[in-house]
Order: sequence, then C-alpha cells, then structure tokens
Amino acid sequence: MRKLFDETRIKGMHLANRLVRSATWEGMCADDGHPTRKLAEYYRTLASGRVGLLISGYAYVRPDGKQLPGQLGIYRDEVVPDLALLAESVHREGGKLCIQLVHCGGQTTTTYAGGQPVAPSALKVDQYPEMPAGLTTEDIRTIVECFGAAARRAKDSGCDAVQIHAAHGYLINQFLSPLTNRRDDGYGGNAESRCRFMLEVYRSVRKAVGHEFPVLAKLNGSDNLDGGLTLDDAVIAARILDDEGIDAIEVSGGTPASGDKTPVRQGIESREKEEYNLPLAYRIKRQILSHSHAR
Ligand SMILES: Cc1cc2nc3c(=O)[nH]c(=O)nc-3n(C[C@H](O)[C@H](O)[C@H](O)COP(=O)(O)O)c2cc1C
Repeated sequence: MRKLFDETRIKGMHLANRLVRSATWEGMCADDGHPTRKLAEYYRTLASGRVGLLISGYAYVRPDGKQLPGQLGIYRDEVVPDLALLAESVHREGGKLCIQLVHCGGQTTTTYAGGQPVAPSALKVDQYPEMPAGLTTEDIRTIVECFGAAARRAKDSGCDAVQIHAAHGYLINQFLSPLTNRRDDGYGGNAESRCRFMLEVYRSVRKAVGHEFPVLAKLNGSDNLDGGLTLDDAVIAARILDDEGIDAIEVSGGTPASGDKTPVRQGIESREKEEYNLPLAYRIKRQILSHSHAR
C-alpha cells in the first residue's frame, strides 16, 4: 500500500513524499505581480517542513485576470528572474514548485482588472462582483496564448510543473458552467462544447512546455450551485483532460456563490467534516479508470 511519506513521482518530477500544499494566495507579491523575497522566504519555510510539492498561489496570465492585491502575476517575461528565486528557495529545501495559472474572468473587479472584467457571457451572476463584458472569439484566442506563454515562463524559471486552475468559478470554470456560459459559437452549449476553452488552454500550455513537463489541473467536482457545473459535467471535463495527457487532476468544489459549500469552507471542526471533496474525487477517479480500461 502507498503511504503518505513514500517517495513518488508525477511524470519526471520526483517528489520526496505525497504531501501537496494546495494553491494559496499569499498577497506577498508586488503591485505588478512580481514575487518578492518575502514570498521566497515563505516558500522556503514551507518546503523546509517537508511538503513534497508546493503549488503557488494563483498566478494571473494576463493583467485583466487579476483578482486580489499582492497576487502573483506571470504575464510578462520580466518575471522570470524573480520566479527563479522562488523555485531555488523551494529546491534548496528538497521541495518541488508548481505554478498555478489562472485568469479570474468575471470573478474580479474593475479596480484589479484595470478595466471592465471579462467573462464567457455578459451576464451578472451572484459569483461576479460586477457586470462583465462577454469575450470575443479573438480575445479568447489571445487568452489561450497567454496561458501557454505563462507556462513557458514557469518552465524557464526552473519551476517543476504548472497547474491549470479550472476550478472555483474562475474563467475556465465559467466556460465549463452552463450558468455562466451562454455562448452559441462552439464554446458553449453541451458539456463537450463548454470544455472547448479548457481544452485549448491545455493544448496551448502543453505545446509551450513539451511532453516531458508535468501539467496538472484543478477542477471542480461540482460548483455546489443551482444551474452550475455538476459531477457529470466534471467527469466529462476530466475525461477530456485525461485523453489529452494531463498528468494529475486535483478535485475541488464550489464558487464564491455556493453558500456553505464555497471552495474554502468554514467550521471544519471534526474529523467527519474533513475530506468534503473526497466523494467527488473518488467518483471522477473511478470513471476515468473505467474509461481508460475500456480503451
Ligand atoms: C487564504 C486562502 C487562499 C487560497 N488561494 C487559492 C488559490 O490561489 N488557488 C486555489 O486553487 N485555491 C486557493 N485556495 C483554496 C485551497 O487551495 C483549497 O482548495 C481549499 O482551501 C480547500 O482545501 P482544504 O479543505 O484543505 O482547506 C485558498 C484557500 C485559502 C484559505
């Protein structure tokens, strides 16, 4: 049986154990998104606690995809030297660093996006603080390229992996969800069409980093929201990623509008309340394994 402290690997990335620190926004970056020495020191401390894999806070791939102050930004080449310092500080302690890539889409404000937020459709839903503008197909193409360029920067910096953030109601999740995606141009409609943006992002990232570099995804097993992404939708999205060659999927759940089932839950005081995403992860894994065996 595999144990928590057993060494493991994801593709060529060797991990000292199976402990993963999930992506956590720290608010320690400069206004332009550059990581600071304070963040590097923080990551060094986390790695020294022997966490096998550290996933960075969500890093915006284009300036209008920013959500919060001090958020990591990975939208231009000038960030590479500072990112390299982050990677070195984790490596020095024997850890590995994965950069999480995001565009927050409609889940941000004019203040941080630097203009009207963008989303798959121009709809005001509860998870959006403001009314977003609907993306043109040309702009979708540009954002897809931004994800690829961001992944290349992570690799050039000596980071060990990237994780595509397709969960928590951000832009990729907005495309996946029938609640926020009302497009009729091939990017919306049935569950497969709603996966098209995610698929294009994955392919752009994969093309940028090559087949040997680990590419992970974080996916909602459910949006826990009326009209939002369901477990059946998530299984389809996970299968598409698996068929394309994703190296690992982290299953999460919820959006900011999901009541007491948001991505970050409160009041988890007992053992029974922990592992709330486990049933979703279990179902997705089982479906993927039976799908792979049938091929
Ligand atoms: C302060 C804070 C910041 C977070 N930032 C991110 C983030 O940048 N990206 C992300 O995918 N999840 C983020 N999360 C969510 C966690 O990665 C994780 O999915 C969530 O807390 C559920 O896991 P848990 O039950 O172990 O807390 C954040 C959570 C907290 C508490």
